[in-house]
Amino acid sequence: MSSNPITKKNEKAGAEKVVRPDIQHVIAVGSGKGGVGKSSITALLAAGASRAGFKVGILDADITGPSIPKMFGLKMSPERKGFSPMESSSGIKIMSLNLLLASEDDPVIWRGPLIAGAVRQFWSDVDWGELDYLFIDLPPGTADAPLTVMQTIPLDGLVVVSSPQDLVVMVVKKALKMAGTMDVPVLGLVENMSYLICPHCGVETEFFGSPKGEEVSKLTGLPLLAALPLDQKLAEYCDRGLVERYESELFDKLLSILQGDKLI
Ligand SMILES: Nc1ncnc2c1ncn2[C@@H]1O[C@H](COP(=O)(O)OP(=O)(O)OP(=O)(O)O)[C@@H](O)[C@H]1O
Ligand SMILES: [Mg+2]
Repeated sequence: MSSNPITKKNEKAGAEKVVRPDIQHVIAVGSGKGGVGKSSITALLAAGASRAGFKVGILDADITGPSIPKMFGLKMSPERKGFSPMESSSGIKIMSLNLLLASEDDPVIWRGPLIAGAVRQFWSDVDWGELDYLFIDLPPGTADAPLTVMQTIPLDGLVVVSSPQDLVVMVVKKALKMAGTMDVPVLGLVENMSYLICPHCGVETEFFGSPKGEEVSKLTGLPLLAALPLDQKLAEYCDRGLVERYESELFDKLLSILQGDKLI
């Protein structure tokens, strides 16, 4: 970061948070569970905010399993200088460990302190420029990267993602308790893959059994922000590095719920 960082003691989390006056809002997307769609939802929230005219960035805090660059079709470029983010085709600034690797297939075999250090640097040392929104894609669980994000980055809040499978209440509660311990506000719950839209006939099917969003919301006290379908087009766009091109009313609505309630 070019100017002097301002630090603020975070009593509960036992660490200093580094405030960046050039970044207005910071929203993390996380879950206790892997593969529920955290990265896709982070990417789509960022793409929606960018389409709406905001200056947007994505900090990929999944250091050992980064997937954001691939979703946006980005790779490390040798010409890129310094510790600057790369820009997606619509101008979203992205920083990810995969953008620093010579080959995107290289594994990152790091222990906790190195992972925590990378997350801290992505926040403090990257030249993000002025941003309205920075979205943070968290890896699953409660290990080093989510812990460092919650301890050192002043988050406006956390969006918790779940899918309608067994154990979801336990998994959501774990994420909630971690956020509570770290003094991070939880904005709400997004149930992803809630139902399937048939790519042929458009009929909606409850693929993973009945959606649990409402029930989980009641049991955890978290507002249900959205129930999103399993959509083959989204998976395909993510795979082809074209996630920015995916548009859906439901995602636009999710973004406007977050903004309208002044949650972000
Ligand atoms: N609603 C959806 N419809 C169709 N495919 C989806 C949907 N959400 C996510 N996917 C696909 O599921 C896979 C896993 O999604 P994603 O990488 O976003 O999950 P994740 O929670 O970030 O996983 P990880 O825990 O490994 O970081 C991806 O291939 C993605 O394209
Ligand atoms: Mg992910």
